[in-house]
Amino acid sequence: MLGCGLMGAGIAQVSAVAGYSTTVRDVNQAQVARGRAAIEKSLAKLVEKGKLAPSDRDAALARLSFATDLAATAGSDLVIEAVTEDLALKNRLWVELDGLCPPGTIFASNTSSIPIGSMAAVTRRPDRFVGLHFFNPVPLMPLVEVVRPAAASRETFERSLAFARSLGKETVVAKDAPGFIVNLLLVPYLLDAVRALENGVGTVVDIDTAMRLGCGYPMGPFTLLDVVGIDTVVRISEIMHAEYQDPRYWAPALIRRMAAAGRHGRKSGKGFYDYSVDPPAPSPA
Ligand code: CAA
Repeated sequence: MLGCGLMGAGIAQVSAVAGYSTTVRDVNQAQVARGRAAIEKSLAKLVEKGKLAPSDRDAALARLSFATDLAATAGSDLVIEAVTEDLALKNRLWVELDGLCPPGTIFASNTSSIPIGSMAAVTRRPDRFVGLHFFNPVPLMPLVEVVRPAAASRETFERSLAFARSLGKETVVAKDAPGFIVNLLLVPYLLDAVRALENGVGTVVDIDTAMRLGCGYPMGPFTLLDVVGIDTVVRISEIMHAEYQDPRYWAPALIRRMAAAGRHGRKSGKGFYDYSVDPPAPSPA
């Protein structure tokens, strides 16, 4: 597993719970410690809620190892990357890993907006490169989008599909185009909610309540923006806007300012809501 932020930690966790020996790599010890703590907290919550036996938690923790050296992941059958949505950064990692891993290793990216083909092309294994897009919070969300770029072999695709299903996830197959299925539809909705707020259509709480109770969504758009990460949504929208040149994907000024100010949502303690209080309270823009 490359990267142990929100998504990487979640993917590593579900892999370890499913029985896979999992190596998690991030750039420094502080990141690694944060990822390990997130996994321990999530597993503890699942045990507390009776969704995981304490013995299964212990077994999962024993299957996890952590490293800062990229070479620690080189012996894996499958390497999944969940680093920042930055193609140049991802491709530097892929080029290095391509040299470290045996030819049989499958590479998968958890990107939600960058075409898989643009990463596969920098490696010598475009036939063994797929997208495995998980959803936040990974231990609770049942879906994985499996993205099959044109160059991926049938065997690679089928093994990747089988891996995602072995984690207990439902799978859908998506075309290798920015946003795949979910973000193609979800991102304009989230950005429209921000535009509605900017236009004074309703308050953060009222817009959230409206979508929860009026449409049956499990969370309102601002709660969800805070879960996904404001910085992440801004990055995704920039990539999708560059690709589609469609104003629906243009990130409004409000979330650009929030991202620049470090108001990234739950992970930073403050976004549209302030998480330093319980229950979280709307946070003045
Ligand atoms: N591990 C373990 N437990 C977790 C957790 C995690 N990672 N994250 C949250 N929980 C816990 C919470 O602590 C909470 O516990 P308490 O009840 O004790 O407070 C509990 O799960 C939440 O349970 P609830 O009963 O309140 O809610 P729920 O189980 O009915 O649903 C949910 C929770 C599944 C997250 C639901 O609210 C939901 O589906 N929300 C929408 C999430 C969504 O849309 N995700 C996709 C985002 S898009 C994306 O990720 C892709 C991208 O590229 C941007």
